[in-house]
Amino acid sequence: PLPKPFTVPLPVPAVARPVSPGRYEVTQRPARVEIVPGTTTEVWGYGGTFPGPTFELRRGSPATITVRNELPVPTSTHLHGGVTPPDSDGYPTDLVVPAGYTGHDHAHGGTHHPVVKDYRYPVEQRAATLWYHDHRMDFTAPQVWRGLAGFALVRDEEEDALPLPGGERELPLMICDRAFGADGSFRYPAAHDPDYMEGVEGDVILVNGAPWPVAEVSATRHRLRLLNASNARRYRLRLAPGGRFTQIGGDAGLLAAPVVHDEITIAPGERFDVVVDFSAYPIGSAVTLVNALAEGSAGNVMRFVVARGAPDDSAVPSALSRPPSRPSPVATRRFDFRRSETAWTINGRPYSPGVPLARPRLGTAEVWRFSSDFHHPVHVHLAHFLVLARGGRAPSATDAGWKDTVDVRPYEVVDVLARFDGYRGRYMLHCHNLEHEDMAMMADFDVI
Ligand code: C2O
Ligand code: CU
Repeated sequence: PLPKPFTVPLPVPAVARPVSPGRYEVTQRPARVEIVPGTTTEVWGYGGTFPGPTFELRRGSPATITVRNELPVPTSTHLHGGVTPPDSDGYPTDLVVPAGYTGHDHAHGGTHHPVVKDYRYPVEQRAATLWYHDHRMDFTAPQVWRGLAGFALVRDEEEDALPLPGGERELPLMICDRAFGADGSFRYPAAHDPDYMEGVEGDVILVNGAPWPVAEVSATRHRLRLLNASNARRYRLRLAPGGRFTQIGGDAGLLAAPVVHDEITIAPGERFDVVVDFSAYPIGSAVTLVNALAEGSAGNVMRFVVARGAPDDSAVPSALSRPPSRPSPVATRRFDFRRSETAWTINGRPYSPGVPLARPRLGTAEVWRFSSDFHHPVHVHLAHFLVLARGGRAPSATDAGWKDTVDVRPYEVVDVLARFDGYRGRYMLHCHNLEHEDMAMMADFDVI
């Protein structure tokens, strides 16, 4: 039986400990954990945990993460939002294959696949809420569903200088939905099941791996790093009985200035870095994070209980950061996201590894125009972008700042200005509805 909402305490993922400065080792392995009280669930986790450990990274301090695969299947790890050289970016056929694995994935790419891989992250990017997850060709959705996801937080001096809430008052919140069998196992349909063309949703909402958890907070400002790590579900987050989110950052870093929202619609892959001031509520009151896009069990996310008063010297300054200025585009390209009879396509084509749809030049910026027939959260690897226009109009308030994922709504055209900084080589763009991704809604682009 599922727990009553707001009875399980909110877990906070452990912070990964380096084995030496800048070096981490993590083993992907199956583990049994208690998610639904009284049952156990087999998860596939980085370090055997779900979510995986949080990597605390600093701008200017490169990190190497050695990933060892002890799962029954190949994997590829992508740092989502990372400005990463191509050989560490988690290309879907750049696999880490477990010892003794005999499946046909070896055919993809044809190269020798290791059982361990060093992923090298230069971390020459602004403070931001990043996350990492599996990206195996054709099987990202079921493998992330089983637990292969975690946070990576980049910090820098610009952020350190701000009086934002920190320490226990800074909570990464990974929101995702799952379905469970009666024995506590994760329930997922067969991969690529045509009945689930639109994506797989679950009826239980997990935050940091716990069902509808509760967290006691002091009546002070708290920084919440919201991540939608769901395969396909979108959320419209609100605070009940009322309240506001002060957004300080988007996918790719701090905003220039805060933006206040009554509600935040968050699509798979997106992050919103927000501050909520719990001093606005009486001591002892409950503040519930709800999802206005669902009724029933998926309409609740988690609860905060304002347990006690406390001094608060944090603040949200009216000037937060100096994000990179808006570059001038040198080209415009179109990417049309659409369903065909058997697959999800971009520009009419199902994914074909090694056939790039674009060749932007390193150091330039381009306007990319995304059009769609459905909700498609479009994610671009490597390149961060600004939303320029949505449906021919000004972007919405929640489109503020540099991003790496944008929710393109049905029959909508979204223009973004993407800058190709960092590295040359092969990258990808795709729909972050993970079932769409596995059903071929993905394309390569080469930075030249
Ligand atoms: Cu978060 Cu290519 O994905
Ligand atoms: Cu899609």
